[in-house]
Amino acid sequence: MIGVLVSGRGSNLQALIDQKLPIAAVASNVADAGALTRAAQAGIPTAVFALDDHASREERDLAMADWLVQHGAELVVCAGYMQLLTPAFLERCTAINVHPSLLPAFPGPTPIEDALAAGVAETGVTVHFVDEGVDSGPVIFQEPVPIEPGDTPERLRERVHAVEHRLLPEAARLYLAGALRS
Ligand code: GRF
Repeated sequence: MIGVLVSGRGSNLQALIDQKLPIAAVASNVADAGALTRAAQAGIPTAVFALDDHASREERDLAMADWLVQHGAELVVCAGYMQLLTPAFLERCTAINVHPSLLPAFPGPTPIEDALAAGVAETGVTVHFVDEGVDSGPVIFQEPVPIEPGDTPERLRERVHAVEHRLLPEAARLYLAGALRS
């Protein structure tokens, strides 16, 4: 079973739901994240762990990790989760993340816009294990997405998302099957 962390609209969570990944629970740092509505509609337990409700990031992350593990999560999947995970969380849980660039190119919060601004011929999608850095950690999958003439962030994001929705569930499935464990 996987636990999923979300902060936004949740199209990657929807891909995990649609592709029948076993989802134990969904947690967010954002109370009104659209992804939480998707989880609730699918009958998946949800919880909000906002920073403001906790004494520190470490304490919030430990509470979140405990909640996910209690629900049966063997792997935590970051599906548009927009905060760094603290070492306390990562000691408790193995986590993977999906990022819309060919890391190490364009880490951080605006990779689609950054790729367009840099004028590169292609960007892409990376699925990787999470470590304490920003969009770092061992790569599981990478797939390029060509940038087309006249691309806007919206058009490029749509093609990148289509790749994310294929690679993230596949990585989670492989991990649960034991194929990615050392
Ligand atoms: C995705 O592009 C993901 O790679 C990035 O944040 C976005 C989340 O989109 N980390 P969604 O909430 O899954 O629709």
